[in-house]
Amino acid sequence: MNGSVIELLRRYAAQQREFGFPDPILPRLEARARPEVNATPSGTDGASGLAEVRRTVDGCARCPLHARRKTIVFGIGDPNADLMFVGEGPGADEDDAGEPFVGPAGKLLDRIFEAAGIARGEVYIANVVKCRPPQNRDPEPDEIAACLPFLRKQIEIVNPKIICALGKHAAQTLLERADPIGRLRGVWYDWEGRRLICTYHPSACLHNASYKRPVWEDFQILRDAYRAIRPL
Ligand code: URA
Repeated sequence: MNGSVIELLRRYAAQQREFGFPDPILPRLEARARPEVNATPSGTDGASGLAEVRRTVDGCARCPLHARRKTIVFGIGDPNADLMFVGEGPGADEDDAGEPFVGPAGKLLDRIFEAAGIARGEVYIANVVKCRPPQNRDPEPDEIAACLPFLRKQIEIVNPKIICALGKHAAQTLLERADPIGRLRGVWYDWEGRRLICTYHPSACLHNASYKRPVWEDFQILRDAYRAIRPL
């Protein structure tokens, strides 16, 4: 094998490891491979695992969204939460702050949390894509595909018992289904051994108040299940 083929194989192996996939091809090149960050968490607690993945995300240029972002909006909250929320992607406020759900949709989400008796700090919140889509357009399938391994790692590390997908992009991405959110919402799914429920995105409620009632119904289902495992 010439040097460039070995280098290509090394890069492939590195990417496999980075995303936590098995590396079936190159175990014998391991010894010679250059040192690099392995995104598979080495610590047992969520915080150190997330910090390791965060380092992998830093400087990410895997999709076109990197070109116009101000910050990477990784995720926030209890790194060992039993309840995790997954939104779509950062808006302008989140791009400024580097934190998910701090803009108008986030403020509504905070009010829903409060009504449901859930503290923002006791859950973990992340998005499907970590960089802001320009003009808040929908994330493209290739952008979602590029970022999804990071979300999957976050879920694996936080290890929530319950996941709530906020809006159609989170719901359709995690469930790998194309159904409209109105058909996906309000019922429990098994998601790789965890319970998953979907609801409308809070920003949908800001544009159309008729979504508020179904969102509140879904949150009550979610809250009851969460409190069953994490009583007050
Ligand atoms: N909308 C999202 O989906 N995520 C955010 O972080 C903010 C708004």
